[in-house]
Amino acid sequence: MTALNERGEIVIIGAGLIGLSLAFELRRRGARVAVFDRFEPAKAASWAAAGMLAARTEEIADEPMRVLCNDALENFPAFVDAVREASAVDPQLRRDGIVQAAFDDASLERLQARARALAAEGVGHTLLDAREALQLEPALASTVRGALLTHDEGSVDNRLLGRALLAALARMHVQVATSEEIELEFDARRVCGVRTRWGFRPAEIVVNAAGAWAPHLAGVPDECRPPVEPVKGEMLALAMPHDFVRHTMWLGGCYVVPRTDGRLLVGATGERVGFDHRITAGGQRQLLDRVLAGAPSLAGFSLVEQWSGLRPGTPDERPILGRTPRDGYLLATGHYRNGVLLCARTAELLADEIERGTPIDPAFSLARFSNNEAAVGA
Ligand code: GLY
Repeated sequence: MTALNERGEIVIIGAGLIGLSLAFELRRRGARVAVFDRFEPAKAASWAAAGMLAARTEEIADEPMRVLCNDALENFPAFVDAVREASAVDPQLRRDGIVQAAFDDASLERLQARARALAAEGVGHTLLDAREALQLEPALASTVRGALLTHDEGSVDNRLLGRALLAALARMHVQVATSEEIELEFDARRVCGVRTRWGFRPAEIVVNAAGAWAPHLAGVPDECRPPVEPVKGEMLALAMPHDFVRHTMWLGGCYVVPRTDGRLLVGATGERVGFDHRITAGGQRQLLDRVLAGAPSLAGFSLVEQWSGLRPGTPDERPILGRTPRDGYLLATGHYRNGVLLCARTAELLADEIERGTPIDPAFSLARFSNNEAAVGA
């Protein structure tokens, strides 16, 4: 196969963490790459996320997705090292584990069962009784019954990761063009390139990494449109004293993620309301009720930020990766709740497919949606 540096340009539509990670990976392998987006880079869901690396804590039952997320978790530190080195920006990866707290008999039993399952998989974890849970995380409600610490998980500062990728790509002379209206052009067999306000730009490969907007790119044949739907997540942040909450935690109905700048992120709602991304009284009340039930001592802290984002959801909650019916047109979207965790692994899989034709697990193909019956129109 022709080396990437001797092949035509690869255009990536979408300057979120998925698109930027793919551009970084392809450029490292020698490809000519450009990234286009209608909006600001590293914003939308990539900016709104909490950056949890929760491959185990999410308790993913679907086997292909579980394998993908576990692989992603293992590969993540090497990716962050590479981005940090290429950009001189530290995305603040934390791998100090995630705590799940139980506040009643049923959730305690569920955590105990979960600990047995993790032991069977050989995943490092610690089951804590109530006293140990409060020692580890004194902010927890005194009614806590126990907790499970899953060791190799954690978080990354997704906003810093976006900034780091943009800095790395700038140093690698990769164009990231934003505020661009883009139309894709195809012939009967394959993608030909993209049209922007600057004119037509031929491309050997075009990758759609446009997140929740992926089904709506102009010029794309219907059979190549992924069945992706926005799922709104509202978030908020509190300002807390240093280390008041030490770990990322699941509190039953919400999660909290500490940042080194003193913010504690609280998330997230999940609503299928189209592209409506308003921050609502009901959404914020839900988050505050849940977080204060699990950690009442947070009540006195300042509310410093409220925001929302649109996750790209798919009918089976798996991402859509790889080929479409038109040659050269690939998808990397639909990452739903796991876009940050999956950005590096997605980049590696897509780059392997582009560079060497390595097939991606068909469980993630567009074709799984029964002859594309589920594909949506423009
Ligand atoms: N990854 C957590 C969320 O989507 O809310």
